[in-house]
Amino acid sequence: MTDPETLGVRLTRLGVSRRSFLKFCASMASLMAMPPTMAAQMAEKLAAARRQSVVYLSFQECTGCLESLTRSDSPKLENLIFEAISLDYQETLVACAGHFSEHILKEAVEKNDGKFILMVDGSIPLKDGGIYSTIAGKTNLDIIQGIAPHAAAVIAVGTCASFGGIPKANPNPTGAVSVSYLMDQGMIARRPLINVSGCPPIPVVITGVIAHYLTLGTLPELDAFGRPKVFFGNTIHDRCYRRSFYDQGKFAKSFDDEGARNGWCLYELGCKGPTTYNACATVKWNGGVSFPIESGHGCLGCSEPDFWDKGSFYQPLSTGTFTDAKAIGVGLAAGAAIGVGAAYLARKRQKTISGGK
Ligand code: SF4
Ligand code: SF4
Ligand code: F3S
Repeated sequence: MTDPETLGVRLTRLGVSRRSFLKFCASMASLMAMPPTMAAQMAEKLAAARRQSVVYLSFQECTGCLESLTRSDSPKLENLIFEAISLDYQETLVACAGHFSEHILKEAVEKNDGKFILMVDGSIPLKDGGIYSTIAGKTNLDIIQGIAPHAAAVIAVGTCASFGGIPKANPNPTGAVSVSYLMDQGMIARRPLINVSGCPPIPVVITGVIAHYLTLGTLPELDAFGRPKVFFGNTIHDRCYRRSFYDQGKFAKSFDDEGARNGWCLYELGCKGPTTYNACATVKWNGGVSFPIESGHGCLGCSEPDFWDKGSFYQPLSTGTFTDAKAIGVGLAAGAAIGVGAAYLARKRQKTISGGK
């Protein structure tokens, strides 16, 4: 961390009022299920913190993760946290190109050796020597192998970096793997790793992880897939506002029927909410405006490993295209029994799987 200015001084200089700052800390503490007293402590620690150096690498990705983070409609939260970090390198955003860009990356790593947070989006192709994604003649594997050992911690941003995502979808033509796979195989240095999955992930969740690190100096507690439990501890279904319709057995049968117009449950239209762990139903998107189910479409399960290979997005979990659904018995009538069973198996899997690959 090279910036001598504390965050508190910086925010004052930029005209951010104490009131806005405290409001931000209260929101973050609440989102992370911290006791209310933690908001004041968070404010104190964040104000005294130096800006955290962040190096952000992009591999096999679609830029959706970065778009999500930088084009959020809730500037009060996300932009404030951007004041808390020093984004020392990000290929898409860097103003220069070629050797200058390479030089900035090298300098960012050397200046903050052992102290910067490495954020990665996109999967890493291994097939055919990794030729499917190269930057300046280096494969993605070469790049991350060179930089990861110097990072204090790694945040895998999005489902591609966390679990392989779309590039890893069957038949996985590029041999795409996640960051955790590389660590588990000893192909890159093992560093503290946190998976912030989602396709793309919710921006507030990414900034929440950074705020946690800045405040407490540690990464938050993780679930079986290496995701922060505070944001991934419940399924979408656990917190869905359509849940009462589900419990009553009121399901929309098509996207334009009377049930859909009445806001009934989207389970029979393929909603994967019962097996998907993410904070969409509570934190929501676009500054808390809405989330896919509130917009009338079922959850695709985008924060779960291999969600692209789990059958049609428009078939209910009970049809048997999902392995878990098969396990609970094909042919059960759609309704509470199936959802409860699917959710139970998803929870069981969370407990038994030791890491997302
Ligand atoms: Fe794009 Fe989704 Fe991969 Fe992010 S996780 S890079 S949004 S495909
Ligand atoms: Fe909500 Fe989907 Fe669960 Fe229905 S199945 S209650 S729409 S999460
Ligand atoms: Fe993804 Fe489902 Fe949320 S599709 S954005 S986890 S509601």
